[in-house]
Amino acid sequence: MVQAKIGIIGGSGLYKMESLKEVEEVFLDTPFGTPSDALIVGTLEGTRVAFLARHGRNHHLMPSELPFRANIHAMKQLGVEYLISASAVGSLKEEAKPLDMVVPDQFIDRTKNRISTFFGDGIVAHITFGDPVCPNLAGVLADAVASLELPDVTLHRGGTYVCMEGPAFSTKAESHLYRSWGATIIGMTNLPEAKLAREAEIAYATLALVTDYDCWHPDHDSVTVEMVIGNLHRNATNAQKVIQETVRRLSENPPVSEAHSALKYAILTQLDQVP
Ligand code: ADE
Repeated sequence: MVQAKIGIIGGSGLYKMESLKEVEEVFLDTPFGTPSDALIVGTLEGTRVAFLARHGRNHHLMPSELPFRANIHAMKQLGVEYLISASAVGSLKEEAKPLDMVVPDQFIDRTKNRISTFFGDGIVAHITFGDPVCPNLAGVLADAVASLELPDVTLHRGGTYVCMEGPAFSTKAESHLYRSWGATIIGMTNLPEAKLAREAEIAYATLALVTDYDCWHPDHDSVTVEMVIGNLHRNATNAQKVIQETVRRLSENPPVSEAHSALKYAILTQLDQVP
């Protein structure tokens, strides 16, 4: 069976990792259906990694249509222990400008239509989720960004990611509300992934790539797809460099993660009694 210790989920604009070598396309099935696309397993910095284009390589899946459970299950089947999720986001703070990178440490859930658990159907479990990203993995990711000194890119360590349902972008009233909550960035995908990764005992961290100022900023036009795409290409080039450096650091010094034992005290159902 093909194996990979590090998983990468690429969001809008990041459909391929250019520097992967000895590449295999792996089509997996899961109890939750098929993932967004084939997983591309290849060698990066001497380590086997699994790459998945979140929206499919042709970008055919909307955020609400994403097979989140199949995607995380597929990563688990490959043996992934560390998952880096790259995602385009809007900025809710002046200082996080387009092309900047944010490594958030908190999420606010504004999704409405997502199944964000593997449990149910007779098995009850509640994972601890006060710290929704793995701080040690996020630290390696942020250190990798800092070490590269990318032109025009400021790194923001920590911050709150609002995960909205979409597909329409926010109204101005919503955008101002999220700002009043102190949130830093807004996107449509990362929170279900973070929850499911925790349930799967995979350490998870987000590399958020800022494309726009959403619709709250008096000196900037409201976000459009054109605006997002305009910044995606530069963001994607930068993201590839960051991911490569992160993989190098993870391979040399894999961090401990509490996520790796997240189910130890989480399951209430007496599994030995389940027929
Ligand atoms: N992805 C990129 N920009 C966004 C925004 N402003 N709102 C939600 N998702 C986004």
